[in-house]
Amino acid sequence: MKLKKAVMLTLCMAIQLLCACGNEAGAASDKIHIGVIYYNQSDTFLNGLLESFRQELEALKKDDLEITMTVRDAAGSQRTQNDQVKELIDAGCSVLCVNLVDRADPSEIIDLARDNDVPIIFFNREPVAEDLMQWEKLYYVGAYAEQSGIMQGELAAEAVRSDSTIDRNKDGKIQYVVLEGEAGHQDAIIRTENAVDTLKSSGIELEKLSYQIANWNRAQAQNRMEQLISQFHDEIEMVLANNDDMALGAIDAYKKVNYTETTLPVFIGIDGTDVGLQAVMDSDMWGTVYNDKEGQAEAMAKLAVAVITGDGMNELDFEKERCIYLPYSKVTRENVEDYIKGGGEETAE
Ligand code: BGC
Ligand code: CA
Repeated sequence: MKLKKAVMLTLCMAIQLLCACGNEAGAASDKIHIGVIYYNQSDTFLNGLLESFRQELEALKKDDLEITMTVRDAAGSQRTQNDQVKELIDAGCSVLCVNLVDRADPSEIIDLARDNDVPIIFFNREPVAEDLMQWEKLYYVGAYAEQSGIMQGELAAEAVRSDSTIDRNKDGKIQYVVLEGEAGHQDAIIRTENAVDTLKSSGIELEKLSYQIANWNRAQAQNRMEQLISQFHDEIEMVLANNDDMALGAIDAYKKVNYTETTLPVFIGIDGTDVGLQAVMDSDMWGTVYNDKEGQAEAMAKLAVAVITGDGMNELDFEKERCIYLPYSKVTRENVEDYIKGGGEETAE
């Protein structure tokens, strides 16, 4: 009899323990604390993306789903970012969204996450495939760099074909300069290569005057452009910029040197930031390529919830197992209003 009682007691205790664990798991899935770390708070595109992310999370909140978010700025230092990852894990974040400073150097972050079983959604700055393969709870949300370059090249070709005055010196070639983002970024070199190749293969004769790195930054681009203007005077017929902020910096430079309409090159950007779209609207910029921040933010938010609750994982469109890529689209004076009103085709539907 005594033995039977003891067995019963142990069984009860085991059941209680099981229930407790079950409850804990239930409670954890109702509360998601997201840690977000981005490479630099001065980046226009990323500030827009994070604003959209905030809105997406708001929309996903439910009575039984509490979502909180903590944001950190790595201020351009990978070491700072590694420390911030540790800090946010210690603070109890259940999932991290990381916009790497150095996309080739995520090992320390991956080790920290794996040791603490905290999934990571990398975004915008794409880690190399081997790094993403290091652990099954690593994801990436971004866009196809190649596609943005091709679309920029197509826009540039359209501009040249539609306006013969762009070839100002009438030599049958387009004298151009490129303003490039950070050297190691997937969206810098790949965009440049594809934009130029697309222009060439559409039959436009080109003459490269200069490539300058301006690190995605408007002020740096203005500075580089002022130097280019003093070097090439009114020879520059086209400015291809890896992002809108640098295209706008180039326009700032021309405004500063008191240009006349006849010496102004054609400017083409990428991103469709608020200021970028406004410049297309005002015809300061001929066109831009929309970097779908709303789509990326939505994918990140849904994924962050799915990795913790398990809900909605199969609604997400994965490539290479754990990557999500949102498509770009072309913006010109003709369709810019759709983007300004609706915040992009993807969300306008
Ligand atoms: C955007 C840039 C931005 C960069 C930051 C790119 O995808 O086009 O505007 O500065 O990401 O990583
Ligand atoms: Ca020319």
